[in-house]
Amino acid sequence: MSKPLQTEAGAIRILLRKAKPFRKDYSVAIIAFLLKDSPAWVLPVLTAGIIDTVVAKGPIQNLYLFGGLALLVLVQNYPMNMIYVRKSSLATRSIAFNLRTSLTEHLQKLTLQFHQRVSSSIVQTKLVRDVENIELMIQQSLPIALSGTFSLIGALVVVALNIPIFLAVFGLVIPVGVLLVVIFRRKSKSKNEQFRSQVEEFSAQVGELSSMLPVVRAHAIESSATAWVNQSAEQLRRRGLELDWLNGRFGALAWLSYQILGVTSLLVAASFSIFEVFPISAGQVVMVATYFGVIMGTAIALLNILPSLAKGIESIRSIEEVLSSDDLERNEGKRELSTISGAISLRNVSVNLGGTEVLQDINLEIPANQTYAFVGPSGSGKTTLLYTLLGLVRPSSGDVFFDSQAMNSLDMRTVRRHVAYVPQESVLLDGSLRDNVALGLPADDQKITLALGLANLGTLVRHGGLDQTLGRSGTRLSVGQRQRLAIARALYREPRVLVLDEATSALDMDSERTIQKTLDGLNHEVTVILVAHRLATVRAADKICYLENGRVIEIGNHQELMEKHGAYYKMVEGKEMK
Ligand SMILES: Nc1ncnc2c1ncn2[C@@H]1O[C@H](COP(=O)(O)OP(=O)(O)OP(=O)(O)O)[C@@H](O)[C@H]1O
Ligand SMILES: [Mg+2]
Repeated sequence: MSKPLQTEAGAIRILLRKAKPFRKDYSVAIIAFLLKDSPAWVLPVLTAGIIDTVVAKGPIQNLYLFGGLALLVLVQNYPMNMIYVRKSSLATRSIAFNLRTSLTEHLQKLTLQFHQRVSSSIVQTKLVRDVENIELMIQQSLPIALSGTFSLIGALVVVALNIPIFLAVFGLVIPVGVLLVVIFRRKSKSKNEQFRSQVEEFSAQVGELSSMLPVVRAHAIESSATAWVNQSAEQLRRRGLELDWLNGRFGALAWLSYQILGVTSLLVAASFSIFEVFPISAGQVVMVATYFGVIMGTAIALLNILPSLAKGIESIRSIEEVLSSDDLERNEGKRELSTISGAISLRNVSVNLGGTEVLQDINLEIPANQTYAFVGPSGSGKTTLLYTLLGLVRPSSGDVFFDSQAMNSLDMRTVRRHVAYVPQESVLLDGSLRDNVALGLPADDQKITLALGLANLGTLVRHGGLDQTLGRSGTRLSVGQRQRLAIARALYREPRVLVLDEATSALDMDSERTIQKTLDGLNHEVTVILVAHRLATVRAADKICYLENGRVIEIGNHQELMEKHGAYYKMVEGKEMK
């Protein structure tokens, strides 16, 4: 299970860890920033000097000196700024890149149960939006945090050297600022969390809507479908408004309090000067007021970036939810198999999905190179059984063995190199025919064409070639063509174990015959595990397992099961199989 990150400190620690490889870039960036930003706290000193020179009516050389220094600190700003932008953006973009790649990598390792629990649109939001939020947070808050820190330190040092009594005034302002920030943080955290999860929910619904579009339109229920999404959009609007309102209130409040404090400090400095409570020159009054402006500006800027800071921290938390999820398939360090014979056994396997026992106490010994067919009513657990064999779903008890070795002790990635799987619903890439058949393996055109021919797709190759594109999720193909393509992909892998889940359900007689011939050709050379509703496919199997409510209730070959007059017999006689 994923454990939610509790603290902001935790989120920041994670960010610092991600930033660690780029600490050199960030160090250079910070030094460049310090120099580029120096006018903010050097200029008030020079201005004070110029004013005091004016008040004292000379000497004129002072003006040259102050003017020259001012020009110097200003001119270096441009090159330093460029260095800062280059180094910091390089580091920040690389952090985002690393986050995206580690997320993608981690997602590949998460179990199917995780993916069934978390919708794909939510995962997409995390990869796209959350990483962007983190990027934005660093880009926006780094310069403000740096300039804030530097000008604060600069201002405090200069003031301490010139008019130490004013440290007390600043000492009053800073705690007020900190207090405001703390209050804001607390409120904004929960509002941001609500907003973020609403965005995720919304994008999940939009994803659902677009996949359901043909059904929605065919049933003329567009308005209800729109209403579902609108409801979620309305929630999003409400959460967004709450968030804006909170941000606005604090922004305004902050601005007001700082302005009042600023004016007060100017008045205090001015009256000190007039009543000579403390010796302050006119230049110093201006300097104090300017520093106040600098501090105020920084504080307001800090408050303004708080929303993006809070959003960024929330996004770190959201990504960490995935990264820290230990719902992982662990393969590292486990035994690797360079070949497998194709013998599979299940011993006392039970599988629990979402709290229900989907498979119960399954015991099966599938010898190498045999064909096993699974039949049974819809929902009886056939697909789940295949998932379990493939190690995509973990048994809640019992174990699966490949060549007598427990799956838990094996690096399943090495086992799966010898396995091919055709899912119940074909999954295609938005790529060429070639890419779809080779899918992750090196493409060999001759072998690809052969596999396509064996899957009765020779015509498709002759008409469009291997370079033809198939459209998003293979939409340019018919359902039957997609299914045949999925079979070609499986054959291309030259597997030791071929797993087919209703792989021929959408095929015409002709294609089915061709594929049956192909399967017959593999007979006793490959372990074939299939789920099918076609009598012709099933009766050719060495063993047929009849599943009901997650249990194997009959097992035997066609003839044995027919003679038994049990559930299989009833299914065949009842013409439930074609
Ligand atoms: N992620 C899940 N969470 C909870 N229950 C699940 C989950 N996936 C499947 N199930 C349940 O497990 C049972 C078996 O599902 P499975 O897909 O294995 O059936 P099947 O025999 O392949 O059916 P069909 O012939 O319709 O494809 C069903 O009752 C289903 O509701
Ligand atoms: Mg199924």
